[in-house]
Amino acid sequence: MNNKFSKDIIILGIETSCDDTSIGISKNNRILSNVVANQEIHAKYGGVVPEIASREHQKNIVPTLHMALKNADISLSQIDAISFTLGPGLMGSLLVGVSFAKSLSVALKKPLIAINHMEAHVLANCIDNSPEYPFICLTASGGHTQIVLVNNSFDMKLIGETKDDSAGETFDKCAKILGLNYPGGPEIEKKGFSGDKDAFKFTIPKMDKLDFSFSGLKSNFKQLIDKEVTKNSHFIVQNLENLCASIQFTIIQILIQKLELAIKKYNIKNIAISGGVAANHDFRIAINSLREKHNVNVLIPEKEYSTDNGAMIAIAGYYKFQKKDFCDLDVVANARYKLGS
Ligand code: KG4
Ligand code: ZN
Repeated sequence: MNNKFSKDIIILGIETSCDDTSIGISKNNRILSNVVANQEIHAKYGGVVPEIASREHQKNIVPTLHMALKNADISLSQIDAISFTLGPGLMGSLLVGVSFAKSLSVALKKPLIAINHMEAHVLANCIDNSPEYPFICLTASGGHTQIVLVNNSFDMKLIGETKDDSAGETFDKCAKILGLNYPGGPEIEKKGFSGDKDAFKFTIPKMDKLDFSFSGLKSNFKQLIDKEVTKNSHFIVQNLENLCASIQFTIIQILIQKLELAIKKYNIKNIAISGGVAANHDFRIAINSLREKHNVNVLIPEKEYSTDNGAMIAIAGYYKFQKKDFCDLDVVANARYKLGS
């Protein structure tokens, strides 16, 4: 036990910010179970359809809870608190998780803990781990791309973010242009595995300080495809692997360059990544290579804790539980909940 309480602390974490219904159960800073119900129905629409996402959460949330309890070998009465994603995210999706968490709290007479989804992504690095502070975390997900200075688990400061699209969105939009399914990140990764990353060159945007921009890259990619397809209608099929490898390489380069700038600017000794894009194999290798280059410690969450998951909500809840940072039943979902607010 590594907490100040005389007993183990068990938290149930509920995540419904976008299209994955997930419930994780933690015991102190370890995870007992993490169940994710993916909503594959969105693949055929080429992106998340908010109305469908809310309905699917409603369908999935009770079976997900039962499976999480079963896998953790825990009964509801053993839970010390219920943490849930308050935002940011899709309002209809958030409402399902927030209402479910409130109902559980009333039924079980256990405290409620509201979690910021972006802070939880960062704290995924604390699962089974006690990181050295301060560290800088690059969170690259579908909704956000941020660089965060983490002074401790309660003190996070946004030091850079995207001014337009996120890195995950860029994977998704480029995949759509290529006719691949949603979510595009894993599809591009799979197809790009045997491709040549240097086959196509795309411009890396010049952005101020630690901010990102990805919309120019997406347009650059679309223009190339449109131009080549008018000359050769088989262009995409004939070049799919190389196109995937090249666009993936460029997105990773943009992320790494900014992280390197942050390391120098803050003279930081510990870095971390998080968010769905952190599940990417080549990105994980590129981040690991910074260890020697900049003499820094590198934290990378397990893949299942990189993409959206309930475990990170439970861990964030565990830290807030220690501060008795509970919320009331009248708390409302916040689709634009800002990190650090
Ligand atoms: O963090 P996340 O699961 O959900 C949000 O909070 O948005 O991130 C989802 C994003 C999607 O854009 C998806 O394409 C991307 O993460 N992603 C990946 C990979 N797995 C998920 N991108 C690149 N490579 C992957 N293996
Ligand atoms: Zn996320």
